[in-house]
Amino acid sequence: MKTADLKHDSAIKHVTGQSVYVNDITANRQLVGRVVYSPEAHARISLLDIKAASKLNGVVAILTHKDIPGINQMGPVIHDELCLAIDEVTFIGQAIVLIAAETEEAAFKAEKLIRIEFEELDTILDLHEAIAENSLIAPPRLIECGNVDETLLSAPHVISGELESGAQEHWYLETQSALAIPGEGKEMLIHASSQNPAETQAIVAEVLGIAKNEVDVEVRRMGGAFGGKETQGNHVAAWAALLANATRRPVGIHLFRDDDQKITGKRHRFLSKYQIGFNDEGKIIVYSVELNSDAGAATDLSRAILERAMLHAENSYFIPNVRIVGNAFRTNLPSNTAFRGFGGPQGMVVIETAVDKIARFLKKDPAEIRKLNFYGISQKNITPYGETIVNNHLHLMYDQLLASSGYKERRLQIAIFNTEHEFVKRGISLTPVKFGISFTTAFLNQAGALVNIYNDGTVAVNHGGTEMGQGLHTKMLGIAADELGVSPELIKISPTNTSKVPNTSATAASSGSDLNGMAVKNAIDKLKSRLTEVALDELKSKLKTDSILAVQIVFADNSVFAVSHPDTKIPFGELVKLAYLKQISLSATGFYKTPGIYFDRELGRGNPFYYYAYGMAVSEVEVDVLTGESKLLRTDILHDVGDSLNPEIDLGQIEGGFIQGVGWVTTEEIKWDKKGHLLTHSPDTYKIPTVNDIPLHFNVELLSGYPNEGTIRKSKAVGEPPLMLAFSVWLAIKDAVSAVENHEFEPAFSLPATAEVVLKSIEEIKKMRLGVRS
Ligand code: MTE
Ligand code: MOS
Repeated sequence: MKTADLKHDSAIKHVTGQSVYVNDITANRQLVGRVVYSPEAHARISLLDIKAASKLNGVVAILTHKDIPGINQMGPVIHDELCLAIDEVTFIGQAIVLIAAETEEAAFKAEKLIRIEFEELDTILDLHEAIAENSLIAPPRLIECGNVDETLLSAPHVISGELESGAQEHWYLETQSALAIPGEGKEMLIHASSQNPAETQAIVAEVLGIAKNEVDVEVRRMGGAFGGKETQGNHVAAWAALLANATRRPVGIHLFRDDDQKITGKRHRFLSKYQIGFNDEGKIIVYSVELNSDAGAATDLSRAILERAMLHAENSYFIPNVRIVGNAFRTNLPSNTAFRGFGGPQGMVVIETAVDKIARFLKKDPAEIRKLNFYGISQKNITPYGETIVNNHLHLMYDQLLASSGYKERRLQIAIFNTEHEFVKRGISLTPVKFGISFTTAFLNQAGALVNIYNDGTVAVNHGGTEMGQGLHTKMLGIAADELGVSPELIKISPTNTSKVPNTSATAASSGSDLNGMAVKNAIDKLKSRLTEVALDELKSKLKTDSILAVQIVFADNSVFAVSHPDTKIPFGELVKLAYLKQISLSATGFYKTPGIYFDRELGRGNPFYYYAYGMAVSEVEVDVLTGESKLLRTDILHDVGDSLNPEIDLGQIEGGFIQGVGWVTTEEIKWDKKGHLLTHSPDTYKIPTVNDIPLHFNVELLSGYPNEGTIRKSKAVGEPPLMLAFSVWLAIKDAVSAVENHEFEPAFSLPATAEVVLKSIEEIKKMRLGVRS
């Protein structure tokens, strides 16, 4: 079996219930941890009384900010996020009090007995208000090239507009969870559901006021994360650690779904304003965009997310004059955070809507306008931030997908269908994705690994990446097996643990396999060079020759041999035993850092990305004109993953990412009431895609024949880019809406395009028709 065909390591375990999540781990004398959080969006705490609750039977500890032995902070990059509120709360869901109790029932009762009184303060609950109040959370950012102001004045056509894109709830199946187990002295072990164990370790150490070497964080797997556990998995870990430290007993916190949705941050809402200038042919000559994001009450990752939005503002298009302004605003909502795409989707959707408008204005096929503006191969290939695009696959993917999806013929068929149907309309759209791979904070692009070979010939691989369902561990297993030339059954990927590989970066930015794959290979290379020496001695004496060189030694088929003498093989297990007896170390660490990337934030220039991943999608939808409901009929995707590390897993990532994007652009609408209470905090009001939302015809193909030089096994990252392929669905819906009045008017449209938005949009263009007639 090829290691590229390895099944996801959890495939059997998940469906048979054997996979272990944090909440499946129990410790002796474990307590239940509960978080009491603010019901007010912005208020002064005028009274906090825990006396009655403390006396309750079964309650072991009740903690407030005064009981934090270390620093009262859990902000990941900027320390502006309190672990427990002091005398003011700034969002609904902010933790105020922690309870440790013998039972869940006791914890609930205690919560009811805690008295907290508030004096309400003024709130900012939406972006319009935040912009009016100029409640910037960080200085504005700018990326600029060419001459924007002059070109806007001289451009033959200029369209300006505004676009709102909505928040999105992560809806990982495993809610935020942590189990903290105190050890000897100051030691603390955390079983975490965190994409970033090293940061969980740092935050736990800080709130407890102890050193990092006292804290071990272990992550077996997450039941989904999608960016929601890049920083916010730290919070439950810090709270559980505080309770475990105070009680000296293990404490588990496992948030209820509703609590999780209310207190954690989401994808950033954006309100964006743009002007786009173009010629009669449809060539874009100037683009000016202001991206405004809702950061929530604290900074969290908002700066980096805004940066990625800005670095994706032009998507796949070469534009000579560009100005991108980025603002992140503070509001009284839970701090918004990473979500698959990390701002990229919010930046890209603005240019995609603008390009669509250009096509409608010129009465041309939007796909053709897109192609016309794609980055060039050897010229017109410099991004607004100065990075030169090499290995641009956009043009060849466009040709391939246009043909395989039958785009042109289907557009004609749809036009006919629409003339024949009054109450249902169909629409189609092709959209491209170009997504930069690397952390834009350059130093984060590093990874480590620890590989142990035991003297029974089995191997344990530990690396800094975490498994959240994306199949990273399976890919690492494949790489380790191939590099060592042994069967995967001999190798185990152990849980991620901060004591095995220190100072790791979050498993994020889709770069988990790029970074950790290279680190694993580096560790194995070291072990192989040691084992090669042993093999050389052994083969020389067996074959009675001195003429074998180290470069001739091959590790394959669970054995080691010289290419010149392939019949004389040393079984891998035997070689390992020999090495052990010869007192050779069978353990090695590995390390990798991405070469040649940098970015100057002040100048807005640099080479932030090691390479780009490309994808393209064609989607066709049908809209019910009377209800506004839409149905996704067919999607064709062509996606570039270089030489795939594991095609089944990559296809799963593409399908899953795309459908998650479809949710964001169609049904996933987050609403708060006027006081800042989340109204959509359970699956009955918050609609993520179900199996019925998967298109009936769903053709996903990997681009083949284009290896990505310079990465592990010439592969490309795949985790996030496919999410943005869902713009094809959003714009296909708009196309269907515009068909209601025969594409004569430009429908107003926002994201998500819920049935309500679609219906309003249809009503509006109908009115435009009446306006023309009257
Ligand atoms: N796939 C699954 N099944 N579950 C997840 O939580 N997270 C996504 C993506 N795919 C996620 C997923 C996000 S946000 C990222 S950044 C990448 O996986 C992270 O993993 P990678 O770097 O190994 O691709
Ligand atoms: Mo992914 S949003 O980078 O965790």
